[in-house]
Amino acid sequence: MTNQNSETTDLHRPEWGGTELPMGSARVVDLIGEDLRSHGFDAETVPEFLGESAHQALGRGDRIPALRATGDGSPLSTLIRLYLLGQPVSATAAAAAFPTAGVDAVVAMGALERGGDEIRAGLDIRPHADEDHSYLVVSDLDSDVRPGPVRHDHVLGIGAASINLVRATIREAADRVLDLGTGCGIQALHAYAHAGSVTATDTNPRALALAAATARLNGQHWDLRLGSLFDPVAGETFDQIISNPPFVISAGEQRFSYRDSGIAGDGLVEQIVRQAGSHLVEGGTAQFLANWLIHEDTDWRQRLVGWLADAGCDAWVVQREVADPAEYVALWLRDAGEQSGNDAVAGDWLEYFSRNKVSGIGMGSITLRRTAGRPDLVLDEIKGAGEEVTGEEAAAFLARRAWLSARSDEQLLASTLSLSSAVILEQRSLPDREGWTTVLRMIRRPGGPGATLQLDEWGQALLSGCRGQVPLSLLIELLAAANGFDEQALTDAVLPSVRQAITRGILHPVQG
Ligand SMILES: C[S@@+](CC[C@H](N)C(=O)[O-])C[C@H]1O[C@@H](n2cnc3c(N)ncnc32)[C@H](O)[C@@H]1O
Repeated sequence: MTNQNSETTDLHRPEWGGTELPMGSARVVDLIGEDLRSHGFDAETVPEFLGESAHQALGRGDRIPALRATGDGSPLSTLIRLYLLGQPVSATAAAAAFPTAGVDAVVAMGALERGGDEIRAGLDIRPHADEDHSYLVVSDLDSDVRPGPVRHDHVLGIGAASINLVRATIREAADRVLDLGTGCGIQALHAYAHAGSVTATDTNPRALALAAATARLNGQHWDLRLGSLFDPVAGETFDQIISNPPFVISAGEQRFSYRDSGIAGDGLVEQIVRQAGSHLVEGGTAQFLANWLIHEDTDWRQRLVGWLADAGCDAWVVQREVADPAEYVALWLRDAGEQSGNDAVAGDWLEYFSRNKVSGIGMGSITLRRTAGRPDLVLDEIKGAGEEVTGEEAAAFLARRAWLSARSDEQLLASTLSLSSAVILEQRSLPDREGWTTVLRMIRRPGGPGATLQLDEWGQALLSGCRGQVPLSLLIELLAAANGFDEQALTDAVLPSVRQAITRGILHPVQG
């Protein structure tokens, strides 16, 4: 612990160890923040400065239009070139961009690097926004800015998975929030607005150092702890747990700490599923991204249900995609910037999948809610774009399932239901001698994951009668009388569909 000099390590804790952690001085990080903000390096000004076309091109990974838009030598152009375009700048330009912190101090913190007469970014610092806030996020430079494989303890920046989880997170006031595997701190950053306190953990000291800088730059205070899985929070409970863990499935090597847990197969996700409940207060939720193995000739749900059986939680598992093993290996080699010359790694990886009879890798999200009752498990597959889980959908889904779990069939029949105004009925018909015969009826709530139900003629009639005016039992009675059906038989036939329609937000209770 040679760097525990109070001048440079007041953002780091001695127990994180490491002699070369970046961004250690709170004072210099504050000055860096002051410089960045004073030049307009924020989520509103940068897009305006670049112009819509160049900004959108940058979002697609095309840097040329943004390079053309930043040729004026202004400090903001310099910062954009350094941190968003990965370009070197002159020492004079860098000095103008960091007048308060000073280039030497920024270099000492690792956020700039000298190479001859040129100055380059040493870390990735980028503006990021949600509806209400503009943030600055510190991470390591991506492999497309710094060519070649990333370092073993590479700290991932804001990626598509991070944003998926940000969108999927339930944003309801929560007293204690845990971000497990915080990396650059993106989940903790978003949690801060609705949390009483944020605890963020990681096994990688470099990640904690950059997360500390992210928190500091945004005026937030997180309790940062080093350690694996739930070890750093042993014996503690939270109202909400969020995690984008290193879920990438392999034989158990840890080549890159941001994606490989070092645990073979999908063991890390299994441990999170099995342990999260004991770190949640009653009613508390855990949401995390996950990958799971799908074995030949096996329904993917079996594996997840096995883990969930004793987890003490209601669960909503959503499988968004299934990757073929070859596609999966290629994806992750590319992600770490090591797609070429890695035939041996790819071969061993594929051999692991083949030896374990893996036909695919399921990718998706898991939402848990601590319950004292009998766990309610729902495992869905989503197929269409626009069906991704959002925080609002997740919260509404859990509320609907709780409402249903608390009601017997008799209570459900006594309740008054209403058809959502957002649904669409789709019908397919075939021609016959008398005109057209409807052969398929689907009712769909756009945007709701898995919110499509197949109906028969009677189900369609029943749903259209749900106008929030009479109890369900009366509607069934009228439908049975009008069509000469046995009322009990019709009740038995429609109740499962009614429960499904409520689960999917197609019907909602008005009373009862
Ligand atoms: C995919 S990154 C996610 C970073 C960030 N939370 C996000 O949403 O983008 C996974 C993070 O988990 C950390 N990690 C790896 N193994 C871990 C473990 N056993 N326990 C806790 N965190 C771990 C990695 O160092 C990395 O920072």
